[in-house]
Amino acid sequence: MTSEYNFIKACWCQPVDQVPVWLMRQAGRYLPQYKAVRAQGGGTFLDLCKDPARAAEVTIQPIDILNADAAILFSDILTPIEPMGMELDFVPGPVFANPIRTADDVDALTVPEDMAQAVSYVPAIIKRLRVAFEGRVPLIGFGGAPFTLACYMVEGKGSKDFASLKQMMYSDFPLYDALMQKITEMDRRYLNMQIEAGAQTIQIFDTWGGLLSPQDFERYILPYTKKLIDGLNRDGIPIIYFVRNGGTMLELIKQSGSDVVGLDWHVNIDKARAILGADVAVQGNLDPTVLYAPDDYIEREVQRILDENGGQPGFIFNLGHGILPTVPPAKAIHMVECVHRLSQK
Ligand code: CP3
Repeated sequence: MTSEYNFIKACWCQPVDQVPVWLMRQAGRYLPQYKAVRAQGGGTFLDLCKDPARAAEVTIQPIDILNADAAILFSDILTPIEPMGMELDFVPGPVFANPIRTADDVDALTVPEDMAQAVSYVPAIIKRLRVAFEGRVPLIGFGGAPFTLACYMVEGKGSKDFASLKQMMYSDFPLYDALMQKITEMDRRYLNMQIEAGAQTIQIFDTWGGLLSPQDFERYILPYTKKLIDGLNRDGIPIIYFVRNGGTMLELIKQSGSDVVGLDWHVNIDKARAILGADVAVQGNLDPTVLYAPDDYIEREVQRILDENGGQPGFIFNLGHGILPTVPPAKAIHMVECVHRLSQK
């Protein structure tokens, strides 16, 4: 598999002339240009997700502004949950009016046969973007990992420990499994639909996977993530699996079978690589709050991370989690410039 994009080459552990870089949550509130488009028409965040013209526009903004090497589809991990029959709102954090608690709730969840029809705005945005980019940068599609989606569906909103889901998981495994099987199948159809529409890479976000101990991760998360990844039409499409706070269970994360492992800043790249081996690419892992530091501090941190990677192929520079809404855009621009300049061959 060969590609002209540094980002795709790095996903396949092929040599590159400079390290590719993008930022998780690179489209969003830290950009005044995003806020301007979001305000147009006075609609909500979900209205923006469902408007292909404006969603495509905010996907392109960080490519023009930051010079990032890859674009990520503008949407949310929770948008495909709406057609499963759950009412979703953002205030600005996600809220489900009717959280899943009982066997009847799980039975009532729909797994749409045709995700291209169920969330028709998603393939519409992807198709627009492929035309707009015309080979300039590759497009990353994405979804939530089954466990992270279940966290929100069962709790009904964000939480520190997602106790409602953990209670279900520990006290009624058959119910937990029935829910996870439905989510995994929806996710499989949803991500394959994105690939079919033109997504060139898929990132699976497991924001809450690090809440579990390694033995619980192996039992309650890994089988579903693995089944999801096994079910993707991944021919020529790299799969990135990002588990926040996953640095202490990299042997297990590797078993998911993803091509790339996303790392947060609690683990060093060299130590992670020693566990993951040379056949898996890594993506990460600057602490997002370093973007509040002076420019020369950011440059030293970029250099440190590049040094930890030691020039090995299969490295994509990113933040260790999403960019924070109060970061000045100039700092993100500076970070991308440092990665490109300091890694040039
Ligand atoms: O630029 C990009 O990365 C693409 C767009 C994107 C959004 N959400 C847009 C968004 C992506 C990839 C996501 C993923 C997402 N959404 C995750 C996984 C990644 C992570 O950050 O851990 C999670 C857990 C969610 C759920 C979610 N959506 C939360 C918790 C919130 C509220 C707080 C926040 O982080 O902003 C959202 C809302 C949301 N999703 C916004 C954006 C731009 C803010 C909405 C606004 O404009 O007010």
